[in-house]
Amino acid sequence: MLLLLSSNVGSKRILLVLCPSEVDLRRLLSRVTPTLSPAVRQICPYPLLGCSAESSFGEVRHSSSLVSPSKSAQPIRKGTGGRSSVSGFVATVFGATGFLGRYVVQQLARMGSQVFVPYRGLEDEFKHLKLMGDLGQVVPVKFDCRDEESIKAAISRSNVVINLIGRDFETHNFSFDELNVSIPDRLSRLAREHGGISRYIQVSCLGASPESPAKQYRTKAEGEKLTQENFPEATVLRPAAFVGTEDRLLNKWAVFAKKMPTVPIIGSGNNKLQPVHVLDVAAAVVAAIKDDGSSIGKTYELGGPDVFTVNELVALVFESIREEPRVTHIPVEFAKVMAGSFEWLKGLSIPTPKMVTFSRNNVDAQLVDMVVSPDALTFKDLGITPRKLSGVAIEHLYQWRTGGPAVGSTVGSRTSGAGF
Ligand SMILES: NC(=O)c1ccc[n+]([C@@H]2O[C@H](COP(=O)([O-])OP(=O)(O)OC[C@H]3O[C@@H](n4cnc5c(N)ncnc54)[C@H](OP(=O)(O)O)[C@@H]3O)[C@@H](O)[C@H]2O)c1
Repeated sequence: MLLLLSSNVGSKRILLVLCPSEVDLRRLLSRVTPTLSPAVRQICPYPLLGCSAESSFGEVRHSSSLVSPSKSAQPIRKGTGGRSSVSGFVATVFGATGFLGRYVVQQLARMGSQVFVPYRGLEDEFKHLKLMGDLGQVVPVKFDCRDEESIKAAISRSNVVINLIGRDFETHNFSFDELNVSIPDRLSRLAREHGGISRYIQVSCLGASPESPAKQYRTKAEGEKLTQENFPEATVLRPAAFVGTEDRLLNKWAVFAKKMPTVPIIGSGNNKLQPVHVLDVAAAVVAAIKDDGSSIGKTYELGGPDVFTVNELVALVFESIREEPRVTHIPVEFAKVMAGSFEWLKGLSIPTPKMVTFSRNNVDAQLVDMVVSPDALTFKDLGITPRKLSGVAIEHLYQWRTGGPAVGSTVGSRTSGAGF
């Protein structure tokens, strides 16, 4: 039942609407908004009705923007579930231009979701993403993570927000405090203020803890805490190190193996990692959005099926590229002195050799055990079986084989290495 009251106060006309639910209210407003004057439309803090201040105000562009942010709210779905269907999700994916982002966008777009892609660089940053969905379904939006208005515009039409923003190193412009604490804090606060966001996913990382020796992981933990304070329904995912075509773990060692006389490993190399395939992490993000609400407010730790030491992983890389292992263990204290010197050089305003990614944080981060804790919620709780590393999952390393990807695919053609 709807009750409409209209009255003139001075020169202004006030419309009072009483209705039992927020969904009904939004449906009603979507019909009356086109009849309102431009001045009245500006009152709306967000273009919640699927319309923006600049264009086609009042036109309901996304039926899913009618979804209320409650556990029971289910988006309106149409079609068979393919890319031309309507999944009912309108998602803003912050960090979509990164490694994980492209797989998240792909998995969302191929089930018929509309995906807003906030970007900060050039067109080249997002153009590969546009092909992942139907025409008009992947929408780039220019944004600046320090400008709240641009963030509001990026989430204005969405009912899902995913934060993948992160970096393994600090830059001149962005410290870990800003990247991992201030940005998640700002995004989750604005998503809460939006009022129509039904799912919020914060991607953090395994090892995030206030007690971690690495600043990167301490700030990630702080970011998780603020996100959950601002948006208690947020789902936090803590993935282990990703592997996949563009990974910065196995590819990095393969590059060292090809270009340097030896692969440097900081410390003993006995610390443990549980690498996870990037496709599985993207699947977990989508599973957390699609479920019946069971992932709301929970934290999941996402590791692959096997735990490796760093030494074992480097050996696996050498095995995959068919080369004899060549490894040098660098003492931790020496690595820290080197990293400190590079940090000092980075701070100088004159041209100096700079290693942006190598820092004391990087040394600390490389020494931490990154495995799923025994009592954590995992892939299993999201209904996903993560793929094993050896075999298809790391075929992308074959590109580093001397003589081409097919070299060494039979035992007789292996080029080097003990027992080859
Ligand atoms: N890669 C891993 O092994 C791994 C493991 C565990 C957890 N994680 C976490 O998973 C998330 C995604 O990782 P990823 O490997 O996909 O990261 P990535 O490839 O480095 O991409 C990071 C994304 O964040 C954006 N970004 C970084 N700084 C920004 C800033 N100041 N303002 C706006 N956007 C900014 C980047 O935009 P630009 O393209 O404009 O730079 C990019 O889209 C991160 O939170 C990361 O910490 C990663």
